[in-house]
Amino acid sequence: MRDIRHFILGCIMAVLAVVGLSVWMPPSEANAQEAGSVAAEPEIDRSATGGATTLEDIMRRQQGLQTDDNATRSTNLGSAEGAGITDQLGTLGGASDPDLWRGMRFNAADVTTQVRGPAAEVLIQDRGMWWLQFREGPLLTYGGYLLLGTLGALLLFFLLRGRVMIDGPKTGRRIERFKHVERFGHWLLAGSFILLGITGLVSLMGRKFMIPVMGHESYALIAGVSKWIHNNVSWAFMLALVMIFVMWVVHNFPDKTDLKWLAKGGGLFGGGHPPAKKFNAGQKMIFWSVIVLGGSISVSGLSLLFPFELPLFAKTFAILNSTGLPEMLGFGILPETMTPHEEMQYAQLWHAIVSFVLMAIILAHIYIGSVGMEGAYDAMGSGMVEEQWAKEHHSLWVEEVKQRDNKAPSGATPAE
Ligand code: HEM
Repeated sequence: MRDIRHFILGCIMAVLAVVGLSVWMPPSEANAQEAGSVAAEPEIDRSATGGATTLEDIMRRQQGLQTDDNATRSTNLGSAEGAGITDQLGTLGGASDPDLWRGMRFNAADVTTQVRGPAAEVLIQDRGMWWLQFREGPLLTYGGYLLLGTLGALLLFFLLRGRVMIDGPKTGRRIERFKHVERFGHWLLAGSFILLGITGLVSLMGRKFMIPVMGHESYALIAGVSKWIHNNVSWAFMLALVMIFVMWVVHNFPDKTDLKWLAKGGGLFGGGHPPAKKFNAGQKMIFWSVIVLGGSISVSGLSLLFPFELPLFAKTFAILNSTGLPEMLGFGILPETMTPHEEMQYAQLWHAIVSFVLMAIILAHIYIGSVGMEGAYDAMGSGMVEEQWAKEHHSLWVEEVKQRDNKAPSGATPAE
């Protein structure tokens, strides 16, 4: 029996490892090309154009591949070298058309517009194509795999392990687990997160999966409503995040009971019921994932909600570069100056990637809080749990409650 359990655990770990690997493995050369991501640039011979753009450069840019932004070209903006105004065939002493376009491309042209705002004067942004293709390519594909892989792993887990049942005889007594305000905070968080997840996926995946089915007009309506919901419901999520942090942080500091709980794999595979306080180590991991990842999603979301007002990435990259970590990990030196649009593009990618990770974690949480475990849902449903369930899953917490009340289970009421 034990062998079979080890085998099943092994299978699940293998599936998770494969899903994890497929998501995090660097894209192959073919994928990198498809994504337009940074591919090493071949040496291009520019002698024929005197160092200026060649057809090859143009073709690379059209394919979304990296082009040569070398210092010679980005600073070759003409005006200093323009022929004098009185010379024959002179350039009137100013920049020629290609010089002007190059100036725009490298954000060095003297542009004035009637539109105000930090991004108004950026007329050409090279890396925009890379972002667009990454968003429609690897982000969507691997994000989708992660969610489907998680659902598949949970289904497999359910088929192999089945529902976690209450082992001992039920007492018929119930014990209060979460107060009304705690359940309100939880459901505000859960409801808003689910809405944000669905509407976020509609915005990201709609072009690929919904337009071919329903056409542009119907999708435009759904996308508009989705965007409205997404932008406004985000406030409920942030409020709920603060609520659950304030209410539950004291119960989520790691301690040594967590190590024992983890050593026994939470008792999920026949290891008995390791003792736990109000939250076990697994739940603490969920809590901190929600706080840290949910917090990061909120901050990048705010940056997107107020475009160009909250640039985060150039500053963050500068701090990271100063630690030397990106280079050590093979990412090279991260860009420390970016156009306002580029800031938004990084914010969008980060927002989506972290959301995918949190969605996968939350799918597992929803499973174990509902169909996966007998008696768990009551904790958030009515707030009252069967005493036997509490003893099996949170024995130290039950003792604490008893000691606090100095009598048999707090708020215990006979079952009807
Ligand atoms: C329909 C969806 C959901 C169900 C059925 C559900 C169920 C539950 C249950 C039963 C508990 C209490 C566990 C216990 O008594 O020990 C709980 C706790 C919690 N829930 Fe949910 N939940 C859902 C969605 C969410 C979402 C979307 C989030 C966050 C984005 C979330 C975050 C949490 C956190 C942080 C806790 C405390 C730690 C833990 O128990 O893991 N829940 N949930």
